[in-house]
Amino acid sequence: MTFRESLEGIEIDQLSGAFFEGWPNPPSTPTFLKLLEQSYAVELAIDEETGNVVGFIQAISDGVLSAYIPLLEVLPEYQGKGIGTDLIKRMFNRLGDLYMIDLLCDNELQEFYEKQGMQKASGMVIRHYQNQAGAVNS
Ligand SMILES: CC(C)(COP(=O)(O)OP(=O)(O)OC[C@H]1O[C@@H](n2cnc3c(N)ncnc32)[C@H](O)[C@@H]1OP(=O)(O)O)[C@@H](O)C(=O)NCCC(=O)NCCS
Repeated sequence: MTFRESLEGIEIDQLSGAFFEGWPNPPSTPTFLKLLEQSYAVELAIDEETGNVVGFIQAISDGVLSAYIPLLEVLPEYQGKGIGTDLIKRMFNRLGDLYMIDLLCDNELQEFYEKQGMQKASGMVIRHYQNQAGAVNS
């Protein structure tokens, strides 16, 4: 497994894995590429044999105080091999100067994130499900 901290040299067909598992209306591959390009930071896991991106983490940030991690995903056949942990560690290293790094997750994943030094918190959200594939004007 190779890790990359940018999209440089990554072609769209390397991103065509079945990400957004369980999403009824997932972003298209071009929209996926765009949200990665427009992120503050990304980390990618690449299978050297196929050249495909098999895991990613994305952060958005003001670069001053705060960062939010909207998405972390490893393709099902690559899960349980430490790739998700490596992606988080690499992202936290990059965001380490900031005051707050936040994310939302299901309860069963809290232990996973606690192992990376995170603590439980409460939060509030809005979800416009009609925009799940991407904002109309994005
Ligand atoms: C969560 C995810 C990124 C972990 O990636 P991974 O490469 O499998 O992670 P690692 O191999 O580094 O670590 C696996 C650990 O995560 C735990 N884990 C993974 N998915 C879990 C789940 N749904 N519920 C509880 N624990 C889970 C495993 O039990 C394991 O713990 P262990 O180290 O104590 O054995 C991956 O399962 C995934 O992509 N899931 C679907 C998308 C998702 O839920 N993303 C997180 C959004 S907040």
